[in-house]
This record gives sequence, structure tokens and C-alpha cells, in this order.
Amino acid sequence: MQNAGITTLGLNWRYLAFDVHPNDLRQAIQGARAMKFIGLNLTVPHKLLALDMVDELDESARKYGAINTIRWDARRVGGIWQPLGAVDPGQAEELRSVGFNTDADAVIRSLREDLQVEPRGASILVLGAGGAGSVAALRLAEEGARELYLVNRTPSKAEAVAGQIRLRYPETRVTVGYPLKAVDFILNGTSAGLKKEDPLPFDPRQWTLAKASAVYDMIYRPAETELLQRAKAAGCRIANGLGMLLYQGVRALEIWTGRPGPVEEMRRALESAVYGRCL
Ligand code: ATR
Repeated sequence: MQNAGITTLGLNWRYLAFDVHPNDLRQAIQGARAMKFIGLNLTVPHKLLALDMVDELDESARKYGAINTIRWDARRVGGIWQPLGAVDPGQAEELRSVGFNTDADAVIRSLREDLQVEPRGASILVLGAGGAGSVAALRLAEEGARELYLVNRTPSKAEAVAGQIRLRYPETRVTVGYPLKAVDFILNGTSAGLKKEDPLPFDPRQWTLAKASAVYDMIYRPAETELLQRAKAAGCRIANGLGMLLYQGVRALEIWTGRPGPVEEMRRALESAVYGRCL
């Protein structure tokens, strides 16, 4: 996806994957800086660990307490900070790393574009209060969701997220547990569904999919989890998390380049990499 975007933008860059043990994360980031990398993406479990390993936190990283994108900025002595990608590395006297979070906005964009739902004013059942689920719930509240129902296998974690939402977004009504009435959509932010043998992320004795008109599953492999299959059978609109993966990557590329990300080229590359489709 990123290399397709980079090629489309005509940049002489490469996006590479590295397997880094959490114990080595600080050194890996320092190494990338020494080699004048333009930026990095981080995934679990590095998103939280990296918070105190960058020089600056963008508002997005501070707000959601997680970093998935780092950009190095450079400046000549006395000059202004500019993204390293826009500067001749030989001229960069000073470098700083900035941590961003592009995951949270990607959820909202994918809900709008892929599921055709509007989070503002909506009543939403959020399944999961781990890393992904809690960021999604906070972001939905920030977007102006009217009511959020939080359900998690471990209820205390849902309570903790509910507490944060009540504090930060008092206009959103938040309840831990299943709604009594219908909701506008359901968002699954749990990892239940990644494996065939996984249970459903909700309890079918306590909730029925007939009480929702749309269901979003952050899982994108398999393309249709059992949750999405059941939702489709119940007549709900469905979307999986591939759009979220796409949009967080598009935004990261925009942060590194300062240019609009080529969404369709990146989408095609991503779909072909994940599902093996040649579109
Ligand atoms: P991520 O960063 O992907 O969100 P995580 O923080 O480990 O990963 O969160 C995983 C989420 O999936 C949690 O909400 C977890 O529930 P618990 O908080 O009770 O652990 C949920 N989850 C994982 N396996 C599950 C299962 N078999 N049934 C229901 N929920 C499950």
C-alpha cells in the first residue's frame, strides 16, 4: 500500500517492514533517526511504548495516548522545522521526532465512506475496550455520538473507558452494557473473530443483530467474520476494517509528504496484498 502510494507520488522512497522486539524499540527508533529515515509506522505493542520515545507529541497522539506514525523534522541552524522528506538530508543540522496517531481518524472516515453511517448524533454499540476499541469509543464521542453502549468481555475495562468519556465528552451518554432499544450501528473493536474458533464478540442471548441497521468489524482478515456474516443475514449493511487500515496509511503518507495521499492506488495495492485479488 505505502509503496504503491510512494510510486504514484513519484518519490524515490521505500517503505520496509522490520520486526522489532519491544525491548529494542528505543534503539530501533534511534537507529532510524541516525539513518535519516523520513518516518516510521508502529503497530502493537509499540504504539503505547513509543509515547515517551519521541521528542514531540502531535495533538492526535496525545489525545488517544498512542502513536502509530512518527515523522522526523529537520532544520538548519536557526531555521524553521520542516518534514525531513522535504529537506536535503545533507542540510539537516538538527532533527526531532514527532509522534502522531492516524488510527482514530481512520475509523471515522471508514465508517462514513465504507459503511455509510454518520457517527455524529448516532446511537452506537461498541464491542471491545482494548487498545482498538477504546480509541474508537473515544473518537466516536469526540465526533459527537449521542449514545455509546460499551460491552467488553472484561467489564471493568469498559467502565474505565466510560469514565474517560464522561469526563472528556460529557454530551455523549455512555452506558456499560447492552442497549435496550435499537442502535444505528455496531462497531466491533475486539479481536474475537480473527480465528475461526473464536466466539462471537457479543452475547446473542442478550442482544440481537436485528436491532442494528449496520455493523462494522475492525477485523479485515477474514474479510467476513462470523459477526459480519450473521449481520448480513439479518439484513444489516456491513463493512470490514480494511478501510481503516487504508485510511490510517493514507494519512501517514500525507504526514510524511505533505501531499494528498493517492487513495485509489493505495486501496488497490492493499486489497491485492490482503486478499490476493488483482483488480
Ligand atoms: P487491540 O490492540 O487489538 O485492541 P487488545 O488491547 O488486546 O488488542 O484488546 C483485545 C480486545 O478483544 C479486548 O477488548 C478483549 O477483551 P478483554 O478486555 O476482556 O480481554 C477482546 N477479546 C479478545 N478475545 C476475545 C474473546 N474471545 N471474546 C470476547 N472478547 C475478546
